[in-house]
Amino acid sequence: MTFAHGSRSKLTPRDMGRFPTESLFDRVARAVCRAECLPRKELFESWEVARRVRRRMRGGRVLDLACGHGLTAQLMLLLDDTSPSATAIDTRLPASASLLRDELVRTWPRLAGRTSFEERSLAHVTVHETDVVLSVHACGALTDRVLELAVDERARVAVLPCCQSLSESSGIELSGWLDTALAVDVARVALLQSRGYDVHTQTLPVAITPKNRLLMGTPRI
Ligand SMILES: C[S@@+](CC[C@H](N)C(=O)[O-])C[C@H]1O[C@@H](n2cnc3c(N)ncnc32)[C@H](O)[C@@H]1O
Repeated sequence: MTFAHGSRSKLTPRDMGRFPTESLFDRVARAVCRAECLPRKELFESWEVARRVRRRMRGGRVLDLACGHGLTAQLMLLLDDTSPSATAIDTRLPASASLLRDELVRTWPRLAGRTSFEERSLAHVTVHETDVVLSVHACGALTDRVLELAVDERARVAVLPCCQSLSESSGIELSGWLDTALAVDVARVALLQSRGYDVHTQTLPVAITPKNRLLMGTPRI
């Protein structure tokens, strides 16, 4: 039987044998299995986003907006210990987010006290210029709010958008050539560039998620 990386099945201790090595990814995956709460695709998505973002964005406080379980925030700290802390924000934090955090802290005690979870809207978040602002699958126009929050403070930003809609977001002028989701995301690239950002685009493996366009922006000095 294949082990589909895009499955929504929960990882459990029975899956630990699939991650046998001492690589950081396998050790994270085993901790996730022990926590027994995370859909499989979220492990692979969060890992792919965090490692790609960390290649370009080091240090700074991490803000994981619309964070769900907040795994991306915690991976960002694991991948770069020079970040002092991460704040993970969601209007409805899953009850199991604390199970995952506790298991990660048990495995990496240096994470203790460095990730704070806040159950509230990202609308009222205060962003600082030195932050790295992240959001994985903030639905529709919520991704635009994330970009605005970051750009207004000239903070570094990375988003993996989903649920794009031309009635909520810019890009209608591109829709004669591009499908809706691509038109919205191209308009987001143009917005970042017009606000003085260098932009990098990548895609995650489609087997993990078809909503796989990663958009990263760093303000030009
Ligand atoms: C598709 S989920 C993504 C969760 C997580 N980032 C992931 O990739 O698994 C979208 C999340 O956005 C959250 N959300 C919706 N509106 C929000 C808002 N205004 N502020 C913060 N979070 C919000 C929801 O509660 C939900 O957890």
